Amino acid sequence: MTMKKIITIAGGGSTYTPGIIKAILGQAKRLPVKEIRLYDNNQQRNEDMALIIDFMLKQEQLTDITLLVTEDPQKAFTGVDFIFSQIRVGGLKMREKDEKIALKHGLIGQETCGLGGFAYGLRSIGGLLEIVGLVQKYAPDAWILNYTNPESIISEAIRRSYPTAKMINVCDMTISLEETLAENYGYNRKNWIATYYGLNHFGWYTEIYDKELKRDVMPELLEKLANQELKVADFNAGDTSWQQTFTMLSVLAKNFPTQIPNNYLEYYLYPDMILEHTDKNYTRANMVMDGREKKTKQMAQRIRNGETKDILDFNFGEHGQYIVDIATSLLNDEHRRFMIIVPNNGSIPNLRADAVVEVPAYVGATGVESIALAPINDFHKGLMEAQVAAEKLLVDAYFEGSYQKALQAFTLNQTVPSARIAKIVLDEMIEANQEYWPKLT
Ligand code: NAD
Ligand code: G6P
Ligand code: MN
Repeated sequence: MTMKKIITIAGGGSTYTPGIIKAILGQAKRLPVKEIRLYDNNQQRNEDMALIIDFMLKQEQLTDITLLVTEDPQKAFTGVDFIFSQIRVGGLKMREKDEKIALKHGLIGQETCGLGGFAYGLRSIGGLLEIVGLVQKYAPDAWILNYTNPESIISEAIRRSYPTAKMINVCDMTISLEETLAENYGYNRKNWIATYYGLNHFGWYTEIYDKELKRDVMPELLEKLANQELKVADFNAGDTSWQQTFTMLSVLAKNFPTQIPNNYLEYYLYPDMILEHTDKNYTRANMVMDGREKKTKQMAQRIRNGETKDILDFNFGEHGQYIVDIATSLLNDEHRRFMIIVPNNGSIPNLRADAVVEVPAYVGATGVESIALAPINDFHKGLMEAQVAAEKLLVDAYFEGSYQKALQAFTLNQTVPSARIAKIVLDEMIEANQEYWPKLT
């Protein structure tokens, strides 16, 4: 019988927390839990979430699980087994600035792609370094499972400072995309073994083998994608902006019909089309603030008012289950296969070894074992190499406090057509991020 575990959610106030907790509670056998801790640097958000999680525990009659709510890292991390990290340094207000500053200058304004993602990266690195440092101090044996974005940049930075930290970086996009494909076109994703390579939010499938049908279904999925629009499932509180994303996936599949791409490639390959249907004054950050953030606050307020009927209202698809499955695979040495963000080290043989890539990996008691893939084609390799170099320059800029490296990173970003615009956006972002970025000189 596995000993009961303690899990800390760093960024406890995130709207994704109820979905993760629901997934944890659904895995009582494989991941028995005695205590859940919510750690956040915003007391109000943490306390709101505590009301919701406490409500969930009582509803499930799981009152033997302790709920600890704290802004004190020592209390949050001492003695824990797992940390699930999902912080957003600067909050959605700063995400809004990332998106709008880039858009103002005619560039893609996006959370993790383009210059918005770079701005977020320079904020996020510090927050994550702090958390990983605190975990090394208070719970060096614990596993950190990280969802905090932008993942490639975070992973690159953390491994420079903490090369041996027990940290696994994951993204829910591949699993969400697979689920959306399976639901739309009548397959059962549980039968799939997917092979994929890339950087985070920047990759391609090579095969989707269906164990039941005993064939690679990627060619037929590609054909369906090109002819039958994909409808968004209940993903990230599925709203219209995500529908647009999946519509664009058909454009990608039609024009490059050999491999299924990660939908985020639309920002690099079709920025003009994306910009055409982007509202510069009301971006994804606004939608999230008016959508799931507001809904979460309302849930907490209703519980505070003593209401008990129809309180819980959230659905984030596969997000919670994915990170919990990785935790159970570690804990029980299950050797299940996931897409994980890891140092390349030969997985993609013709890409630099020190790139941080996203590839299939098996997860067991000793951590992550990524698979070795075949060499990749020049089109994808060229795109990835430019992106890797840009991200590495950005991380250099963070550690060296180098304006020149930041400018090089911004210029090399493939959503940027001119070094002149790169500099204008960089200077404006420096101004907007004074509180969060290291000083760049
Ligand atoms: P959010 O702003 O609603 O929640 C983040 C929480 O983190 C907030 O409550 C905030 O107060 C807290 N926080 C910020 N800085 C902190 C710090 N230094 N220490 C402790 N707590 C801190 O954001 P969200 O939309 O819920 O997203 C959370 C994170 O998860 C983001 O980084 C987002 O990009 C990421 N995310 C990643 C994936 C993925 O596939 N990798 C999927 C979904 C979300
Ligand atoms: C997907 C991606 C995440 C990203 C999220 C944004 O889940 O994998 O990396 O953070 O979408 O969703 P949002 O609803 O905040 O725009
Ligand atoms: Mn992601």
